[in-house]
Parts: sequence; C-alpha cells; structure tokens
Amino acid sequence: MLVDGFGRELTEIRMSLTDRCNFDCVYCHNEGLGDTRGPMAPRDEEMTTDEVVRVLSVAADLDVEAVKLTGGEPMLREDLEEIVRRAPDGMEVSLTTNGSFLPGRAEGLVEAGLERVNVSQDAVDPEAFAEITKSGAYDRVVEGVDAALEAGLDPVKLNMVVFEGTVEYVPQLVDRVAERDGLRLQLIEYMPEIAGHPEWAVDVDRVHEWLDDRADRVETREMHDRKRYFVRAEDGDGEGMVEVVDPVENADFCESCHRVRVTHDGSLKGCLNRPRVHPMGELSEAEIRAAFHEVVGDRVPYYGEFMVEEDGEWVRNDEYVGEPLVVEHGRVTADDD
Ligand code: 5AD
Ligand code: SF4
Repeated sequence: MLVDGFGRELTEIRMSLTDRCNFDCVYCHNEGLGDTRGPMAPRDEEMTTDEVVRVLSVAADLDVEAVKLTGGEPMLREDLEEIVRRAPDGMEVSLTTNGSFLPGRAEGLVEAGLERVNVSQDAVDPEAFAEITKSGAYDRVVEGVDAALEAGLDPVKLNMVVFEGTVEYVPQLVDRVAERDGLRLQLIEYMPEIAGHPEWAVDVDRVHEWLDDRADRVETREMHDRKRYFVRAEDGDGEGMVEVVDPVENADFCESCHRVRVTHDGSLKGCLNRPRVHPMGELSEAEIRAAFHEVVGDRVPYYGEFMVEEDGEWVRNDEYVGEPLVVEHGRVTADDD
C-alpha cells in the first residue's frame, strides 16, 4: 500500500481511457486536460488495451482496490468490455459515462465484470439537456440508465453538476430518484478551477439547506463528513438517496482523498486541480511502478496545504510558490499552476 506524506493511502485510481467525447458539456473539466472537442477517431496517444491492463495490474500489486474508468467518454473505446474483463481479480471496476452508449452494451459490460456505473444527467428534459451537453442524446441517456438498471447495475448513480445552468433542475432530479427504484443522485459542486467561469458557481450551502427541508431523513457519513439525504416521492412509498459532493475549498475533502488519476495518454496525475503530470514512460511494469511511487510521494492536499486560507481567502501556500519545474508529457515546462 502506498501512502503519501500526509498519511493518505492510495486505494483508488480514476483512469481516463480517452479524452474524446461525443458530448460537449459546457462545464466539462475533462480531467484537467483541456478541451474535449476534436476528432472522434481513436488517437495514437491513447493507451493500448495491453497498456491499460498493465497499469491496472501494477496498481493491484500496490494494493489499489478500485478503478473508476472515465474519459472523455470511455464508451467510445471499443475495447472497454475487454479492459473490464482483463482487470485484476478483486479490483472493483466502475464506470463514469454520459450514458449515451449504454443501450445495447450495459449487459455485456456487466458480464465482463463491471460493478457500478455513474451516468451524467444534468436535466430531465431534452431541451435543457441539449443546452448543457450540446447533444441531442437525451432519450438515449434515459434508455441507457434503464439498460444499466436492467443489467443489474443497481444502484445507478446519476451525476449532476450543480452550477448556474442546472441549479433550477435540482428539484426535478431529486424527484426522479425518489420515484424510481435503483437510482441515486450525486449533486456535484461545479469546479471552476479548471473549467473556468467562476461566476457560474452556486452556493452549495443553499443546496444543502434545500435538501435538509426536502429530505425525510439525513445521515452523515464519516468519509468527507458527507451527508446522505433520503427523499420520498409524494405519492410513492419508495425512497431515494441524494448526496452532495462538494470538494471546492473543502480541506476535509482533500484530506480524505485516496485517489490518483491516470490520463488517457499514460501519465499519472496526483491531483485534479494541478497541471503536474508524471509520465509513466513507455509503460513497462518497472516504469509504471516507479511513477506510482513518485506521484504518491509528491501528492499534496490541494485545499488546506497547496492552497491555504488567509483572512477568509484561499491563497497559494508560500511553500509552493515558484516550484521549479515539472515534466509534462515528456517535456520540461515551467510550473505556473
Ligand atoms: N465540475 C464538477 N464536476 C465535473 N465533471 C466534469 N466537469 C466538472 C466540473 N467542472 C464531472 C461530472 C461528470 C463527470 C465525468 O465529471 O460529474 O459526470
Ligand atoms: Fe465532459 Fe463527460 Fe460531458 Fe463528455 S459527457 S463533455 S466527458 S462531462
């Protein structure tokens, strides 16, 4: 088990399989690597199936327990089922997807060993959905959620990024998970650090207050001190669950962050909010292992350590000002994060 200098164990990786996407969500941070738009054809820089499997196998040797496959849109990869099937025994495999390719593929993914899925859904009507995602695939996504439930991926977590463009749809999505068995809702605070537009952010405390009123009961989980809101439909007897993921300016969140990220082109990233990436070379086992050691050794809680609070403002910690250099995609560049 790798442990960083702040006592945080590495238990989970979030692995991007491609930075391509068939949507163009206005809020997308694309794992901190910039634009998702571009050609839909597979790209040379993407890890091959074997490379992906090798990274997962080294991670398993280092006692990483779970991998979340993400993108871009990971279902654009034709070899996704094979990746899931070849993932190390005992490693939990989950997927974050926009859902548009789940119809017809959900069952095969479950057969291959997929255990959980998160589907992005930011609105419950096609027009609003199109405005946010720049895609007309609303019906496909709804079908995709059904397909995932039918394939036994229960609960299916709906991800909603809460910002100016979606906050008005929160009540409708809450109703949807209250009405429908097997669905959960994750309200994810918009992260402007990378996506830009800080003015789009909404006050999550108000979302919590609204949920406190709406919920029949509330539980607090130890991890991240996260609350679970249980909601009922007006006429039904089912119960839905809603969680709020609020990492922004949240030192507790960073303190209990146990994940590193693997970029689609085979680098490690210790923190979403920082551009620093650690290439894993030609992806031999030894290089992958060395990179994991290096990135975990270099990991710093972003809020609370890299950024600190001074007079109510979050400012960069003097200790990290003028960090000398980073190696990015094999090139040495100035670190201006
Ligand atoms: N802020 C918060 N969450 C984001 N996601 C993408 N961009 C952002 C952002 N700027 C999350 C969404 C999506 C998943 C792929 O990444 O939850 O479902
Ligand atoms: Fe980004 Fe996901 Fe939207 Fe694609 S579906 S644009 S990866 S948030």
